[in-house]
Amino acid sequence: MMQRSDCESDVTEGVDPSSPFTSRRDFAQRTVQTLLSVSLLQHLCSGNLLAADAKNTVAKWLNQVNEVGLQAKEQKIKQVAWQTRIEDLLQNHIDLPELLKLIDFEHIEKTTKLVDSGARSLRPKFPKVAGVPDKLVFGQQIFALKKGRSVVPHGHNNMATAFMVLKGNFHGRHYDRIEDEKEHMIIKPTIDGKFGPGQASSISDEKDNVHWFKAEDEPAFIFNIHVFGLNPKSGKRTSRIYVDPFGEKLDDGLIRARLIDSKEAHKKYG
Ligand SMILES: [Fe+2]
Repeated sequence: MMQRSDCESDVTEGVDPSSPFTSRRDFAQRTVQTLLSVSLLQHLCSGNLLAADAKNTVAKWLNQVNEVGLQAKEQKIKQVAWQTRIEDLLQNHIDLPELLKLIDFEHIEKTTKLVDSGARSLRPKFPKVAGVPDKLVFGQQIFALKKGRSVVPHGHNNMATAFMVLKGNFHGRHYDRIEDEKEHMIIKPTIDGKFGPGQASSISDEKDNVHWFKAEDEPAFIFNIHVFGLNPKSGKRTSRIYVDPFGEKLDDGLIRARLIDSKEAHKKYG
Protein backbone atom coordinates (compact mmCIF):
# COMPACT_ATOMS: atom_id res chain seq x y z
CA MET A 1 0.00 0.00 0.00
CA MET A 2 1.29 3.40 -0.93
CA GLN A 3 2.20 5.64 1.99
CA ARG A 4 1.22 9.28 1.73
CA SER A 5 3.09 11.96 3.56
CA ASP A 6 1.25 14.81 5.24
CA CYS A 7 2.22 17.13 2.46
CA GLU A 8 0.74 14.86 -0.15
CA SER A 9 -2.58 14.49 1.65
CA ASP A 10 -5.61 16.12 0.23
CA VAL A 11 -5.92 19.38 2.14
CA THR A 12 -9.64 19.47 1.45
CA GLU A 13 -10.26 16.21 3.31
CA GLY A 14 -12.78 16.66 6.08
CA VAL A 15 -14.85 19.11 4.06
CA ASP A 16 -17.82 17.26 2.79
CA PRO A 17 -20.60 19.53 1.46
CA SER A 18 -23.11 16.73 1.88
CA SER A 19 -22.38 16.26 5.61
CA PRO A 20 -25.51 16.38 7.70
CA PHE A 21 -24.63 19.42 9.85
CA THR A 22 -27.14 19.79 12.62
CA SER A 23 -27.31 23.55 12.34
CA ARG A 24 -26.05 26.53 10.41
CA ARG A 25 -23.91 27.37 13.49
CA ASP A 26 -22.35 23.87 13.46
CA PHE A 27 -21.67 24.25 9.77
CA ALA A 28 -19.94 27.63 10.30
CA GLN A 29 -17.91 26.24 13.22
CA ARG A 30 -16.82 23.17 11.27
CA THR A 31 -15.91 25.33 8.28
CA VAL A 32 -13.74 27.65 10.40
CA GLN A 33 -12.04 24.66 12.06
CA THR A 34 -11.41 23.08 8.68
CA LEU A 35 -10.02 26.27 7.21
CA LEU A 36 -7.72 26.66 10.22
CA SER A 37 -6.42 23.10 9.92
CA VAL A 38 -5.99 23.48 6.16
CA SER A 39 -4.03 26.69 6.70
CA LEU A 40 -1.86 25.04 9.39
CA LEU A 41 -1.24 22.01 7.17
CA GLN A 42 -0.31 24.22 4.23
CA HIS A 43 2.04 26.17 6.49
CA LEU A 44 3.73 23.01 7.77
CA CYS A 45 3.96 21.59 4.27
CA SER A 46 5.51 24.73 2.90
CA GLY A 47 8.03 24.64 5.79
CA ASN A 48 8.96 21.05 5.00
CA LEU A 49 9.29 21.82 1.33
CA LEU A 50 11.58 24.73 2.09
CA ALA A 51 13.76 22.56 4.30
CA ALA A 52 13.96 19.94 1.56
CA ASP A 53 14.80 22.63 -0.99
CA ALA A 54 17.56 23.96 1.27
CA LYS A 55 19.04 20.47 1.64
CA ASN A 56 18.91 19.97 -2.13
CA THR A 57 20.55 23.34 -2.67
CA VAL A 58 23.40 22.56 -0.26
CA ALA A 59 23.99 19.10 -1.79
CA LYS A 60 23.93 20.53 -5.31
CA TRP A 61 26.24 23.39 -4.30
CA LEU A 62 28.80 21.13 -2.59
CA ASN A 63 28.84 18.85 -5.63
CA GLN A 64 29.30 21.83 -7.97
CA VAL A 65 32.17 23.21 -5.85
CA ASN A 66 33.73 19.74 -5.82
CA GLU A 67 33.27 19.27 -9.57
CA VAL A 68 34.87 22.59 -10.50
CA GLY A 69 37.74 21.87 -8.08
CA LEU A 70 38.27 18.49 -9.71
CA GLN A 71 38.27 20.06 -13.17
CA ALA A 72 40.95 22.53 -12.06
CA LYS A 73 43.00 19.85 -10.34
CA GLU A 74 42.87 17.63 -13.44
CA GLN A 75 43.74 20.71 -15.52
CA LYS A 76 40.57 20.40 -17.57
CA ILE A 77 39.93 24.07 -16.94
CA LYS A 78 42.31 26.97 -16.41
CA GLN A 79 42.79 28.30 -12.91
CA VAL A 80 41.18 31.61 -13.95
CA ALA A 81 38.08 29.65 -14.99
CA TRP A 82 38.02 28.08 -11.51
CA GLN A 83 38.20 31.60 -10.06
CA THR A 84 35.21 32.80 -12.08
CA ARG A 85 33.17 29.67 -11.24
CA ILE A 86 33.98 29.59 -7.53
CA GLU A 87 33.18 33.27 -7.06
CA ASP A 88 29.87 32.72 -8.86
CA LEU A 89 29.10 29.61 -6.77
CA LEU A 90 29.88 31.43 -3.53
CA GLN A 91 28.03 34.63 -4.34
CA ASN A 92 25.08 33.41 -6.39
CA HIS A 93 24.38 29.74 -5.80
CA ILE A 94 24.03 29.41 -2.06
CA ASP A 95 22.27 31.78 0.31
CA LEU A 96 24.55 33.05 3.05
CA PRO A 97 22.22 31.78 5.85
CA GLU A 98 22.38 28.26 4.35
CA LEU A 99 26.17 28.35 4.23
CA LEU A 100 26.27 29.61 7.82
CA LYS A 101 24.04 26.71 8.87
CA LEU A 102 26.20 24.22 6.97
CA ILE A 103 29.34 25.25 8.89
CA ASP A 104 27.48 25.74 12.20
CA PHE A 105 28.54 29.37 12.26
CA GLU A 106 26.49 30.05 15.38
CA HIS A 107 28.72 27.68 17.37
CA ILE A 108 31.88 29.05 15.74
CA GLU A 109 30.94 32.62 16.58
CA LYS A 110 30.13 31.73 20.19
CA THR A 111 33.29 29.75 20.87
CA THR A 112 36.07 31.35 18.82
CA LYS A 113 38.68 33.30 20.74
CA LEU A 114 40.04 36.13 18.63
CA VAL A 115 43.76 36.83 18.48
CA ASP A 116 45.56 40.16 18.90
CA SER A 117 47.58 39.84 15.70
CA GLY A 118 46.51 38.40 12.37
CA ALA A 119 43.61 35.98 12.14
CA ARG A 120 42.46 32.94 14.08
CA SER A 121 42.23 30.05 11.61
CA LEU A 122 39.52 27.44 11.99
CA ARG A 123 38.80 24.32 9.99
CA PRO A 124 35.08 23.61 10.06
CA LYS A 125 33.88 20.18 8.97
CA PHE A 126 30.81 19.82 6.83
CA PRO A 127 28.18 17.42 8.15
CA LYS A 128 27.38 14.35 6.08
CA VAL A 129 25.07 15.54 3.32
CA ALA A 130 23.09 12.93 1.36
CA GLY A 131 24.25 12.71 -2.25
CA VAL A 132 27.65 14.36 -1.57
CA PRO A 133 30.89 12.32 -1.55
CA ASP A 134 32.61 11.94 1.84
CA LYS A 135 35.93 12.95 0.36
CA LEU A 136 35.94 16.31 -1.38
CA VAL A 137 38.71 17.68 -3.57
CA PHE A 138 38.63 21.08 -1.89
CA GLY A 139 39.33 22.20 1.66
CA GLN A 140 37.59 24.86 3.71
CA GLN A 141 38.73 27.22 6.39
CA ILE A 142 37.47 30.18 8.36
CA PHE A 143 39.39 33.23 9.48
CA ALA A 144 38.17 35.16 12.51
CA LEU A 145 39.52 38.62 13.22
CA LYS A 146 39.38 41.55 15.53
CA LYS A 147 38.80 45.02 14.09
CA GLY A 148 41.93 46.42 12.46
CA ARG A 149 43.62 43.00 12.23
CA SER A 150 44.47 41.35 8.91
CA VAL A 151 44.89 38.21 6.95
CA VAL A 152 48.32 39.60 6.12
CA PRO A 153 49.58 40.13 2.54
CA HIS A 154 50.66 36.84 1.00
CA GLY A 155 50.62 34.70 -2.12
CA HIS A 156 50.81 30.96 -2.72
CA ASN A 157 52.25 28.46 -5.14
CA ASN A 158 50.44 25.64 -6.85
CA MET A 159 47.01 26.32 -5.39
CA ALA A 160 43.86 28.35 -5.86
CA THR A 161 41.79 29.81 -3.08
CA ALA A 162 38.68 31.92 -2.64
CA PHE A 163 37.52 34.13 0.21
CA MET A 164 33.96 35.08 1.02
CA VAL A 165 33.07 37.41 3.86
CA LEU A 166 30.67 35.81 6.35
CA LYS A 167 30.35 38.65 8.83
CA GLY A 168 31.64 42.20 9.14
CA ASN A 169 33.30 44.38 6.53
CA PHE A 170 36.82 44.12 5.18
CA HIS A 171 39.22 46.18 3.15
CA GLY A 172 40.36 43.64 0.58
CA ARG A 173 43.36 44.03 -1.70
CA HIS A 174 44.76 41.80 -4.45
CA TYR A 175 47.90 41.98 -6.59
CA ASP A 176 49.01 40.15 -9.70
CA ARG A 177 52.33 38.37 -9.23
CA ILE A 178 54.25 39.59 -12.25
CA GLU A 179 57.73 38.26 -11.56
CA ASP A 180 59.74 36.50 -8.88
CA GLU A 181 63.16 37.85 -7.88
CA LYS A 182 65.54 36.38 -5.37
CA GLU A 183 64.40 38.57 -2.49
CA HIS A 184 61.40 40.32 -3.99
CA MET A 185 58.17 39.74 -5.86
CA ILE A 186 57.16 42.20 -8.56
CA ILE A 187 53.46 42.81 -8.02
CA LYS A 188 50.73 44.95 -9.59
CA PRO A 189 47.62 46.08 -7.68
CA THR A 190 44.42 44.62 -9.20
CA ILE A 191 41.65 44.83 -6.59
CA ASP A 192 41.26 47.39 -3.82
CA GLY A 193 37.83 47.64 -2.26
CA LYS A 194 35.36 47.03 0.48
CA PHE A 195 34.06 43.48 0.95
CA GLY A 196 30.92 42.89 2.98
CA PRO A 197 29.01 39.71 3.87
CA GLY A 198 28.43 37.53 0.81
CA GLN A 199 31.14 39.16 -1.30
CA ALA A 200 33.96 37.00 -2.63
CA SER A 201 37.31 37.17 -4.39
CA SER A 202 39.86 34.55 -5.33
CA ILE A 203 43.49 33.95 -6.13
CA SER A 204 45.41 31.44 -8.24
CA ASP A 205 48.82 30.99 -9.82
CA GLU A 206 47.46 32.87 -12.84
CA LYS A 207 45.58 35.91 -11.54
CA ASP A 208 45.21 38.15 -8.46
CA ASN A 209 47.88 35.96 -6.85
CA VAL A 210 48.44 37.94 -3.66
CA HIS A 211 45.70 38.90 -1.18
CA TRP A 212 45.38 40.98 1.96
CA PHE A 213 42.19 41.43 3.96
CA LYS A 214 41.90 43.89 6.85
CA ALA A 215 38.87 43.70 9.18
CA GLU A 216 36.86 46.88 9.63
CA ASP A 217 34.49 45.36 12.21
CA GLU A 218 34.67 43.01 15.16
CA PRO A 219 34.22 40.15 15.14
CA ALA A 220 34.75 39.66 11.42
CA PHE A 221 34.77 36.30 9.62
CA ILE A 222 35.95 35.06 6.22
CA PHE A 223 35.08 31.69 4.67
CA ASN A 224 37.77 30.14 2.51
CA ILE A 225 37.75 27.38 -0.10
CA HIS A 226 41.03 26.08 -1.47
CA VAL A 227 42.29 23.49 -3.94
CA PHE A 228 45.88 22.30 -3.69
CA GLY A 229 48.24 20.83 -6.27
CA LEU A 230 46.88 22.39 -9.44
CA ASN A 231 50.19 22.06 -11.19
CA PRO A 232 51.72 18.63 -10.49
CA LYS A 233 54.97 19.63 -12.22
CA SER A 234 55.45 22.67 -10.01
CA GLY A 235 57.04 20.84 -7.09
CA LYS A 236 56.57 24.01 -5.04
CA ARG A 237 55.02 24.02 -1.59
CA THR A 238 51.57 25.55 -1.34
CA SER A 239 52.34 27.41 1.86
CA ARG A 240 52.15 31.18 2.12
CA ILE A 241 54.72 33.54 0.64
CA TYR A 242 54.58 36.77 2.64
CA VAL A 243 55.35 40.06 0.94
CA ASP A 244 55.50 43.71 1.92
CA PRO A 245 53.29 45.43 -0.67
CA PHE A 246 54.59 48.88 0.26
CA GLY A 247 57.81 48.45 -1.66
CA GLU A 248 59.71 50.34 -4.34
CA LYS A 249 57.38 51.82 -6.95
CA LEU A 250 58.33 50.88 -10.50
CA ASP A 251 56.94 51.90 -13.90
CA ASP A 252 53.43 50.86 -15.02
CA GLY A 253 52.11 50.72 -11.45
CA LEU A 254 54.38 47.83 -10.55
CA ILE A 255 55.78 47.40 -7.04
CA ARG A 256 58.96 45.61 -6.01
CA ALA A 257 57.62 43.92 -2.85
CA ARG A 258 60.15 42.50 -0.42
CA LEU A 259 59.73 38.85 0.57
CA ILE A 260 59.29 38.76 4.34
CA ASP A 261 58.61 36.10 6.93
CA SER A 262 55.41 35.50 8.88
CA LYS A 263 56.70 37.31 11.96
CA GLU A 264 57.52 40.51 10.08
CA ALA A 265 54.28 40.31 8.07
CA HIS A 266 52.26 40.08 11.28
CA LYS A 267 54.25 42.79 13.02
CA LYS A 268 53.65 45.20 10.13
CA TYR A 269 50.19 44.21 8.95
CA GLY A 270 48.72 41.69 11.40
FE1 LIG B 1 45.93 32.88 1.03
